[in-house]
Formats: sequence, structure tokens, C-alpha cells
Amino acid sequence: MKATITVLPGDGIGPEVTAQAVRVLEKIGGKHDHDFTFQEALMGGIAIDKTGNPLPDETLKACEQSSAILLGAVGGPQWSDPTAPVRPEQGLLGLRKHFDLFANLRPVKAYPALAQHTPLRAELLDGVDMLFVRELTGGIYFGPRQEQGDGLSAYDTELYTVPEVERVAQVAFRAAQGRRRKLTSVDKANVLASMRLWRRTVVKVHEDYADVELDHVLVDACTMYLMTRPAAFDVILASNMFGDILSDEASVLAGSLGMLPSASLGAGTFGLYEPVHGSAPDIAGQGKANPTGTILSAAMLLRYSLGLEAEARAVETALEQTLAAGARTADIAPRGGSFVSTGEFAGDVLARL
Ligand code: IPM
Ligand code: MN
Repeated sequence: MKATITVLPGDGIGPEVTAQAVRVLEKIGGKHDHDFTFQEALMGGIAIDKTGNPLPDETLKACEQSSAILLGAVGGPQWSDPTAPVRPEQGLLGLRKHFDLFANLRPVKAYPALAQHTPLRAELLDGVDMLFVRELTGGIYFGPRQEQGDGLSAYDTELYTVPEVERVAQVAFRAAQGRRRKLTSVDKANVLASMRLWRRTVVKVHEDYADVELDHVLVDACTMYLMTRPAAFDVILASNMFGDILSDEASVLAGSLGMLPSASLGAGTFGLYEPVHGSAPDIAGQGKANPTGTILSAAMLLRYSLGLEAEARAVETALEQTLAAGARTADIAPRGGSFVSTGEFAGDVLARL
């Protein structure tokens, strides 16, 4: 098949990890006779430096003309002045909104080989395999806000409409049908009106998915259950901000934030794929970044935007074999032990492909 993929390396370790994922896509594409074209564009802090805009029109146009976006990470200390009128994150939020990518899928698996990198007892990690479905274009991230004013007060608004909750709930129920048929919806319905609407709407959508077992967990309790009984979760549906926080917490189960991929999807097949981790400016340019999250994001791109399930599986299998064989980047290396560089790790994945 023919596909154009826009690569937005972004800031910090973004360029290092996307470069490795592109190598993987080129290799699997070549093996299966696909014609993948990669085009790079500016987004985030680097786009601010070069154009003054974190999401230049040219970048949007490039994305519009492609099947999917592969993104590294955005942000860094040089752009983090809270009073600055433009910030790198606005580029990412703008992309999600522009393409109406309302469903963010973040799978979290515990890798037995990395159990010693988690603060949890190994037996708690047994069977941990969950999928976060995070609402991505609504809620407090995009609700009415007051950013300036008298400097003495500020507000953000958690605002959800029934259609917004319905569509992301449908994605979550369908995902559960393809997995262990369990859905946990996270809310704060005991306090927030928006979250009572959330729960009510999820209950209503459940009528169309009677084969899925649904339960509701308050977000504070959920943070605890993620550590005390993580294997009990299958699909977890959460609002934009709760999903952001919970998925970082859950990354602990995988051994490192560097392990987690994500896919942001809308109504069609177009999607944005990025690791869950940030730009990690402290280790940028040192070959210490773990490319796993981005390589697994590329596998999700093959699966969801290009419909190439076998190719996606092949990438995931090669990656798991690489880990099982003992290759370790700095973040998952034993204390004081040796580790391979970002490029060497990806090279190992390529060899197994
Ligand atoms: C994420 C990030 C973003 C978010 C930031 C960079 C805007 O933390 O993708 O999880 O909060 O959504
Ligand atoms: Mn986050």
C-alpha cells in the first residue's frame, strides 16, 4: 500500500526517538512491499524558534495531506515561562483539536523482564494488561478559562457534552469487546456535575454493549487500585485530565514511562501517534532515550491508520523479543549495569524484523 506519514520530531529527545521509529517503519514497509513516504514538519518549541508559531500552517497542511502523524515530544525549559504568550504544548493541543482526535488509546503492559524496575512486588504485576481510553478534545483542557485579568484569580472549566462523552465511550466499549470485555469508567461523580453527566452517559451507552461488564470508579480510588490490583483492569475510560494523570501513574507498572505508546484517533482512520513520555531535555542528544514508546506507537499507526495488523504485530513481537533478549536502554538498565544507546536498541529491533 501507499501512505504518506508526517513526522513531527518536536523537541528534546523527540527527534532521536522518531528517527528510530521511522527506521522501523521503513524496514517493515520494505519487507511487505509498502510504499511509505515520510515528510518532516515543525511543531512545538522548535517551530516557535523558527516561525514564532508552535503549529505553523505549513505543518497543518502537511498533516492534512497524510494518512497519519508520527510525533516525538514537545516542550523544554527554554519555552516554559508561564507568562509566555506561545508555548510548545499549544501545538500539540491544537493538532488534537484541529483533527478532532477525541479518543486517545494508551495501552499499558507489565513486562516480566522489567519487573525489578517497578516499586511493586512482582506478583502484583502478573497479568497487567490494560488500555486507557482518554477523552482528548474536551473537558478542562478546552473549557472556558480566564488566563489574564487582574492577576488575583484564574479559572478553567471542566465542561462536557453528552455527544462528547458518548463518542469516546463507544470507542472504549468497542475496545473492551475486542479484549477481556471489562470497562472501568473513571469519574468524580460524587462531587462534580460534569462527572455526573459523564457517568449517566456511559451508563446509557452501555445499553448497546451488554456483553461488556461496566463498573464506575472514583478517580481518587482509581489511583490506589492501579497500584494495589492493577491486573484487575482491562479498559479504563477517563476524561482528558484524569486520563492524563492516571496513564502517567500506570506507566510505573511498565517499568518506565519510556515504554508507553499512544494513538489519538477521530472518527476516521487518520491518527496521531506519539509516545506518552515528554521531551526529557535533561537526556536529549545523549543516546539515552528509550525508543520503545515511539516504536510501539508506530505499530499502532500501522494497525489503526493503515489497517496493517500483521505488520503491527511483527513490530510488537520484534520489540518484545529485543527486551526478552536483554537489550536495555538507560531508563530500564539494572542499577550500575550497562545499557545500549537509543539507536543500538532500535537496531536490535530491526534485526529481529
Ligand atoms: C500528554 C501530555 C500533554 C497533555 C501535554 C504535553 C499538553 O502530558 O500527552 O499526556 O497533557 O495531554
Ligand atoms: Mn501527560
